[in-house]
Parts: sequence; C-alpha cells; structure tokens
Amino acid sequence: MGDFPADRPRRLRTSPAMRRLVRETRTEPSQLVLPMFVAEGVDEPRPITSMPGVVQHSRASAREAVAEARDLGLGGVMLFGVPERKDATGSGALDPDGILNVALSDAREVVGDDLLVMADLCLDEFTDHGHCGVLDDAGRVDNDATLEIYAEMGVAQARAGAHVVGPSGMMDGQVGRIRAALDEASRTDVAILAYSAKYASAFYGPFREAVDSSLQGDRRTYQQDPGNAREALRETLLDVAEGADLVMVKPALGYLDLISLVREHVQLPVAAYNVSGEYSMVEAAAERGWIDRDRAIDETITSIRRAGADVVLTYWASEVARRL
Ligand code: PBG
Repeated sequence: MGDFPADRPRRLRTSPAMRRLVRETRTEPSQLVLPMFVAEGVDEPRPITSMPGVVQHSRASAREAVAEARDLGLGGVMLFGVPERKDATGSGALDPDGILNVALSDAREVVGDDLLVMADLCLDEFTDHGHCGVLDDAGRVDNDATLEIYAEMGVAQARAGAHVVGPSGMMDGQVGRIRAALDEASRTDVAILAYSAKYASAFYGPFREAVDSSLQGDRRTYQQDPGNAREALRETLLDVAEGADLVMVKPALGYLDLISLVREHVQLPVAAYNVSGEYSMVEAAAERGWIDRDRAIDETITSIRRAGADVVLTYWASEVARRL
C-alpha cells in the first residue's frame, strides 16, 4: 500500500463527465466578439487569401453576419472599414457616409440593442500612408493632431450607432481625449474598449491584406516593443485613469503573461485580441493536416480565457459559439 501514491489527481480525469465537472475555465458565446471587415463598393463578399474563411463583407453580407452573431448570442461585433479611397488625413473615417460609419448604422438597424456594435477607432484603414495617425512635416506620426481627429471620429461613430468604440492607434492620451469628446456630445452612454497594451507585432500580417493596408515601414514609434512587460501595465493604468471602460491586450497568444498581469492589477473587464496571424497559423497548419483544427481553436480560446481575459476578440467567434 505504502508504495502507491495517496494523492491521485487522475481520478478527476476518468471520464468526460468528471472532467466537465471539475473544469476551471469555460467560455460562453457572450464572451466572444467577432471582428468583421466591411468593404466599400463591393457587391459580393471578397475572400481574404491569407485568412481562409474570413471575408471582406459587402454591406448586405455584413448585415447577415451581424444578425447571425446576434442569433448565436455573441458578446458583440467589432467593425473595421475598408474604404475605396484613402487620403493623408483619413477623412473617410469622419464622413457619416464613409464605409465604417454606414456599416455601423446598418448593424444597429439589424440588431438594435440585442448585440453590442463596436467600432475600431483608428486611422490606418483610411490614410493613404497607412499609419494610425496623421503625419507632421517631417513625416512623423503627430500625436496631438491625431487626437483631434480621433475625437471627431469617436463622435461620428457614436452618431452612426456604435455602442462601444475601440481606440487602437496607441496615441498618448487617446482615451481621455475621446472620452471628453463623447461626453461633450452628450454621449456618456458610449463605452470605450481601450487597446491598452498593443504590441508592434508580426502577427498582424494577414490583417494588412484584410484591410488593403498601404503601410510602408512599421508602427514601432507608437505600438509597444515586444520585450516590454512593465510598460504594458503603465499603458493600461494610464487608460484606466483616462476613463477606459474595458482594457485590452493584443496580440493574445504571445502575450498571455500580460493578460494575467493586467487582470491582477486592474478591476475593469479585460479583453484580449486573438489576432489575424494567430488565426492564420492554425488554419494553415490544419489545412496541411498537421493539427486538429477544432481542438486547436478551442484550446486557443481556452488558454486566453485561462490567462485572465473576460472577453476574447476572435475571427472564430461565430464558429466557436455554434459548438458551445
Ligand atoms: C489598427 C488595427 C490593427 C489590427 C487591429 N486594429 C493593425 C495594426 O495595428 O497594424 C490587427 C488585428 C489583427 O491582426 O487581427 N487599426
């Protein structure tokens, strides 16, 4: 008898029923947010080669996908616009008839208040140089001039119907400036999901195709250096002080330590963005038969939740919700 271990954790793994009983991390459809791309001037959804299964939506197909997200009980949809024309200041982002704003109105018309409609608040899809802000005479991203445009963009998105705006440009002071503009426009009801710790990541690669990005160079003067952890907390606490309602870490998989760190230090809900490259790696390996696709997807979402994310933005949101 004494030769055998007394403590037998395996007893709790004996059957699916037992494992289900003791599982610590679960995911509900309401914790998943589906990022969606809506393109101007297209009649049919256009496949995105580097993200198999994801499309640039037409306005009509976007409405259908939003209705489906509601029927599946998702937490929300995060809309990105893909405009036909871009310019130096990203003026399409402010135009009430610009693609992102009309897509937000369409979405609200379909779901009302039954699904949260969220808007990416950033200029990179709208600028001809592809940066997240406007440039100064020396070609550098001008932080404070960009804040003024973000403020107007936030109000335009609120007017178009966004319940939540998601500033993703990593400009200093963006949350505070946008909050002030929303409040001044009497839109205290609109929440801010702050991309607080957003890293300059190679894992956004496929997203650049998804939004027809024209970026030359990189975003390292505003997005964070992958080697820095304390800085993520500093950035996040600034966003909390400026009035963020939810904070986000992005990407997710390489940054699970930061999700946990933020979870530990912040009382607000924590979101994590399972980004395009994380999606495409799984899809590509599964296509070759190298991994079990469904299990890899579920394990991905579970790991992000286990690290401490309350909310997960993922291109698999509808599919996972269907399986749950
Ligand atoms: C910026 C933005 C990006 C992503 C979301 N918002 C691109 C970037 O910062 O370069 C990437 C999302 C993904 O890769 O899935 N508007």
